[in-house]
Amino acid sequence: MTEATSPHPFWLAGREATGDDTLDVTSPWDGRTVGRISVPTPDQVEEAVAAAAAATEKFSATPAHVRAAALDHIGRRLVERTEEIARLISAENGKPIKWARGEVGRCISVFRWASDEARRFNSGEAQRLDSDAGGTGRLALTRRYPHGPVLGIAPFNFPLNLCAHKVAPAIAVGTPIILKPAPATPLSGLLIGELLAETDLPAGSWSVLPVPNDAMPALVQDERLPIISFTGSAPVGWSILDSVPRKRVTLELGGNGAAVVLGDYSSEADLDFAAQRIATFSNYQGGQSCISVQRVIADASVYDRLVPKVVEAIEALATGDPADDATDVGPLVSEDAAQRVESWVQEAVDAGARLLTGGKRDGATYAPTALENVSSETRLGHDEVFGPVVSFTRVDGERAAFEAANDSQFGLQAGVFTHDVQAAFRAHRALEVGGVIIGDVPSYRGDQMPYGGAKQSGVGREGVRYAMEDYTYERVMVLTGLDL
Ligand code: SIN
Repeated sequence: MTEATSPHPFWLAGREATGDDTLDVTSPWDGRTVGRISVPTPDQVEEAVAAAAAATEKFSATPAHVRAAALDHIGRRLVERTEEIARLISAENGKPIKWARGEVGRCISVFRWASDEARRFNSGEAQRLDSDAGGTGRLALTRRYPHGPVLGIAPFNFPLNLCAHKVAPAIAVGTPIILKPAPATPLSGLLIGELLAETDLPAGSWSVLPVPNDAMPALVQDERLPIISFTGSAPVGWSILDSVPRKRVTLELGGNGAAVVLGDYSSEADLDFAAQRIATFSNYQGGQSCISVQRVIADASVYDRLVPKVVEAIEALATGDPADDATDVGPLVSEDAAQRVESWVQEAVDAGARLLTGGKRDGATYAPTALENVSSETRLGHDEVFGPVVSFTRVDGERAAFEAANDSQFGLQAGVFTHDVQAAFRAHRALEVGGVIIGDVPSYRGDQMPYGGAKQSGVGREGVRYAMEDYTYERVMVLTGLDL
């Protein structure tokens, strides 16, 4: 881990650099300094953007095997350094070590998928055009080309893997990227830079710049960066899109994920399983995931048996030091974040919600909390809490359950506990979300599958191949005079 006294360099056009200012990265658990990073100057940011623009043509022409080999290399190095990197994530983010190990595992998968996709990418699609007389002897070959360099803006909650979701698809399609990690958790993004520096990718094709948030509007506006891939809060994301409506902008924003438990999911074993999953995934990494379970919508026929099981499972979670293998729930990213969650819960209770467990704060740690009768007029009732808080709603029947799940400004993912395959298809049709998980919580994400939202949860899709599509556009070449 970086010494607190020696500033960690950033990565400017593939090489180490230091700026004039530094930023301390502190542990949300005990406030110790985890690292001190160097912050780029405006001139250095300009240099990185100019280098990205200059590298565009060369990088796009790089053979697939070179890009795939670089991606494979990073995947291998992540395997070799898993424990060290997991400890880094846990230290800077406060994520329990077991979840941090899981994040490294997912990141390995992202780079592996990207190397596979890089090998497959752009073989092209041929279409004969002589189906009409005017196209006699003509063939269309459609291939994809990058819009240009990507500005990737990553959040704090998966400081390694959500950086990987910006970087790996860019390398796979051969387009330069400037990655901006979150100010609270820059060390994991800089670590990706360290691994990139071990590859033969062209200078200028990548930079990792821990730019302060107030310097971002200029970068967002920069026309040399035509693609923006942003993961973070809805207000910031939509303001980016509004400020550059002509750019290609992918927004992965918030959610208040619903777990729907239908009436057929009713045996003791069913409800034990659902309760365990709900308890775990309303609290994993302190609920700081856009697809954590914030709302449980349960059919009236199972509600009274389900709720005590979830509460019991929540109370069995171990809260404490994120470095401890036994810890299930660590601190939130900051004391401010925990205070905000505390105030939202208090507002809901004041408005008539019943607290079933939790509701206590100790510094940056907020106790896993469950409530029922939460008014939709409160922030907890209609916004994304991004904390370890779950609320229960009783409904009569499947239609009411799906309506309740859709009664949200967000639409990222939903989970539906049912054994009925027809109900699964009805859920897939009815739920206004980017992903429906049958037989589990909304929090499942395979890193190769399309991931993104409906409604206020965003636009565009991540998931390696889908991000590659977002970064590129179709360009057709028509060959003429052919003997087809
Ligand atoms: C997110 O919080 O949007 C990312 C969730 C994940 O990658 O599992």
